Amino acid sequence: MLRIGIVGFGFMGRMHFRCWQDRQDAQVVAVCDANPNIKEDTKKAIGNIDGAASAIDFEGIELFSDFDAMIENANLDAISLTLPTYLHVEFSERALARGVNVLCEKPMSLDVAGCERMLAAAQKSGKTLQIGHCLRFWPEYVKAKEIVDSGKYGKVLAGTFQRLGAPPGWSQDNWFIDEKRSGGVALDLHIHDTDYVQYLFGMPKAVYSQGSRGKGDALIHIVTQYVYEDDVVVTAEGGWGMMPGFGFEMSFNLVMETATIVYDLTREPAFKVCPAEGDAFTPELATDDGYIAQVDHFARTIQGQDVPEVITLEQSRDSVKIVTAERQSIEEKKQVTVE
Ligand SMILES: NC(=O)c1ccc[n+]([C@@H]2O[C@H](COP(=O)([O-])OP(=O)(O)OC[C@H]3O[C@@H](n4cnc5c(N)ncnc54)[C@H](O)[C@@H]3O)[C@@H](O)[C@H]2O)c1
Repeated sequence: MLRIGIVGFGFMGRMHFRCWQDRQDAQVVAVCDANPNIKEDTKKAIGNIDGAASAIDFEGIELFSDFDAMIENANLDAISLTLPTYLHVEFSERALARGVNVLCEKPMSLDVAGCERMLAAAQKSGKTLQIGHCLRFWPEYVKAKEIVDSGKYGKVLAGTFQRLGAPPGWSQDNWFIDEKRSGGVALDLHIHDTDYVQYLFGMPKAVYSQGSRGKGDALIHIVTQYVYEDDVVVTAEGGWGMMPGFGFEMSFNLVMETATIVYDLTREPAFKVCPAEGDAFTPELATDDGYIAQVDHFARTIQGQDVPEVITLEQSRDSVKIVTAERQSIEEKKQVTVE
């Protein structure tokens, strides 16, 4: 039985909690959070996507406010590191150095240097560090990747990706809105699509991005064109400047030589393949959501099972690298080469 700790018990901590609870081979035995009212606060709904556990029964779970005390006393196999982004580097280094495997939420770090530190810490420890780029495990995104890789419908000619919502307002001190702590809309929200673009098409040669700024000059909307050698047209749009009534939407279109693949939650069905010949259809999709599938991948990895390579630390670092180039492109108002 894997002994699991969750560090940071806000929106994503409770999302990971649900995923761990779903398993027969793991038990959440410890939770660490700096919020002294965490027990009471978990009764409230949180976040912008359904699935974060609430009304949690803490029976059998030791509650810590101090990370070192948790690592010292809880005899953990692994932690879900679901702290605010600016804490990812330090806390993953501390856990890995104590021989604990880490599933850390995305983005890996605020900058490439932080990612390199995490990579080095993982290598030195010999333990697993996995970054939570959940779209690589999300059923519709998994299926689209599978179809593209099969070559059945020829090459991808164009891909567009979108992720839009209201500003994240659930965190206690609103750290999301502070670009120095979250990386802002580009690194926090839009990186989901940047990472998926990298997964589908590899590293772009260059990026050209434009962005809009809201209150306090913070970036609230970004549109990027990813430049590839073979002229495939790839764009992604991410925004958290939508008004609350808008809700949250993610979507994509892939224009292929002999099919179009569409995912759009506002359509029915949300996911379909439209081939050049014959009717549009929805292929069979995994029933577990991407968060569950991602935890499953991590759990099986740390148990030494044979799992396919879905995400590496280098790729997680490279997604931060691409977004860094995107932000530079906005600042400099020109195309930026991705080194
Ligand atoms: N994969 C996704 O779909 C997704 C969605 C949202 C957020 N995220 C990522 O997950 C991470 C966490 O985001 P969130 O929405 O859960 O934030 P949150 O603000 O809801 O939760 C963070 C929790 O960490 C606790 N905390 C802060 N500092 C601490 C410390 N020093 N020690 C112990 N506890 C501390 C806070 O009290 C809070 O409960 C971020 O990196 C974010 O980018 C991922």
